[in-house]
Amino acid sequence: MQPSEQPLIEEATLQQRIAELAQEVQRAYPDGLPLCLCVLKGSVFFAADFVRHLGPGAELDFIRARSYHGVHSSGTVALTHTPEIDLKDRPVLILEDIVDTGRSATVILDWVAAQNPASLRLCTLLDKPSRREVDVTPDFTGFTIPDHFVIGYGLDHNERYRALRAIYVLEPISK
Ligand code: IMP
Ligand code: MG
Repeated sequence: MQPSEQPLIEEATLQQRIAELAQEVQRAYPDGLPLCLCVLKGSVFFAADFVRHLGPGAELDFIRARSYHGVHSSGTVALTHTPEIDLKDRPVLILEDIVDTGRSATVILDWVAAQNPASLRLCTLLDKPSRREVDVTPDFTGFTIPDHFVIGYGLDHNERYRALRAIYVLEPISK
């Protein structure tokens, strides 16, 4: 497998949309910026660019969910890192790289909700709604994409390709 020759989403398009997303979020939080929770590892580049558009007062912490694909399960999700900042009574905005089946986002949303935040919303750079297995609707979406396995800008395939600046489709090697 290899990245497609042409990006699915160019670097400039990504950056422009992330700036717009930050404006949408600013408008949705007139009383003060939310505490942003970056979902490791895929969202690191998105979160870094997004919070810098949000403004100097933006707070950032990290959460990590890993899915385990066993023979009989289609993916059990466990949290392997939780935020250090106390989320109680804070407006919390989750920053996801991609919502696919919706399983990871659901586990993260449920865990954060149990910390009694003042409010809780989900912002995802990419959404693949055609793959959804669990009902979850992001509050803010960068791009809705078809059912392709995508890489780059934080998204990996077996830990590779995260450092690409644009988003590509992973394709079989031709020839
Ligand atoms: P879920 O299926 O919505 O729980 O997504 C689980 C995780 O799978 C995401 O957070 C990503 O880390 C990963 N994932 C899903 N689709 C893709 C993709 O197209 N490329 C790279 N990673 C993906
Ligand atoms: Mg992820």
